[in-house]
Amino acid sequence: MTHTENVHIDLGERSYDIAIGAGLLDNASAWQDLPKAGAALIVTNHTVAPLYLARFQKSLSPHYPVIHVCKLPDGESYKTWDSLNQIFDVLLGKACDRKTVLFALGGGVIGDITGFAAACYMRGVPFVQVPTTLLAQVDSSVGGKTAINHPIGKNMIGAFYQPERVVCDLGTLQTLPPRELSAGLAEVIKYGPIADMAFLDWIEQHMDELLARDPQALAYAVKRSCEIKAWVVGQDEREGGIRAILNFGHTFGHAIEAGLGFGVWLHGEAVGCGMVMAAQLSERLGLVDAAFVARLTALITKAGLPVTGPALGADVYLHHMRVDKKAEAGDIRFVLIDPPGSAKVRGAPDALVAEVVEACCRA
Ligand code: NAD
Ligand code: GLY
Repeated sequence: MTHTENVHIDLGERSYDIAIGAGLLDNASAWQDLPKAGAALIVTNHTVAPLYLARFQKSLSPHYPVIHVCKLPDGESYKTWDSLNQIFDVLLGKACDRKTVLFALGGGVIGDITGFAAACYMRGVPFVQVPTTLLAQVDSSVGGKTAINHPIGKNMIGAFYQPERVVCDLGTLQTLPPRELSAGLAEVIKYGPIADMAFLDWIEQHMDELLARDPQALAYAVKRSCEIKAWVVGQDEREGGIRAILNFGHTFGHAIEAGLGFGVWLHGEAVGCGMVMAAQLSERLGLVDAAFVARLTALITKAGLPVTGPALGADVYLHHMRVDKKAEAGDIRFVLIDPPGSAKVRGAPDALVAEVVEACCRA
């Protein structure tokens, strides 16, 4: 795929397109027909800015008379009230009005914070996601979940707030550190077991190309992931039901992230290991067979992701999982594979969960 592909998210008056292609950052047409405004604000970080900010500002400049910039410190540990306030400081300090368009240039951290800032500033201003990590292109920029972290729980303070557009420049993936590429592959792999086993076959057949950043392979992985996410979100924008399946691996994964302290493991690494744990729990509940668990574990390993969790103790895992947003009245809800290619959300006995944690963790 060398041209631009569009995946449509159908959400009534909140519908939008995801544009996917190489070189879109420099392509002025990618930025046409967005809401008009006297000013735009690009939110980015100190890692992404030296790589892409100048190019992006140049291509955005025909469309907005003034372009402000807010550069945040880099990292999950900065997904905080303080970073959010830095965005508001710029918006208010520059007297930005309620038509100002926010652009999130960066990975999932920048996308989630910027989206939440857009949801809050003057009770809502338009924003555009410009994801530059694989994880953000295949997942976090799509679907309108925005948030910051609280020390007690990840992504606990936030809003559903849809962007005007998502623009995925596949060229930006060439500068991603290898560990971040692997983290993004966890979210790509996720879509197979929950929705599309043919896609899981394709990922297995193309993992070498994906790790080598072959442009065609990355293009298909981003497009198919976005199609599946669009299909799910289009049915259940605010996660009343099916959208929860997108959290496959996340219940265990969030416990790893919170238990170790945010930022020690990458989100995608925690999700990769969490998918192995969730698959094992599915097996212990008789929903999938051992061959499926072995297949998924092998693929996650090949993607360069950990499949053995940190030995925090089952109690610590269970404690953090009770703070998960899917928990209901303190009962933990897991996304379980049943059968491969589809998923269900349900509880499981603590003792069984503890067995899985002990089996999957390294002392
Ligand atoms: P990230 O935003 O921290 O980016 C990873 C690293 O790569 C950072 O150091 C970043 O500066 C750097 N980077 C970004 N683009 C780069 C590029 N092109 N070249 C070189 N370096 C680059 O992490 P992430 O994995 O993109 O996102 C993780 C976040 O996304 C978590 O906070 C997670 O909770 C959130 N998330 C949200 C959703 C959602 O639906 N909103 C879904 C999944 C994950
Ligand atoms: N990443 C999970 C979701 O968007 O619902």
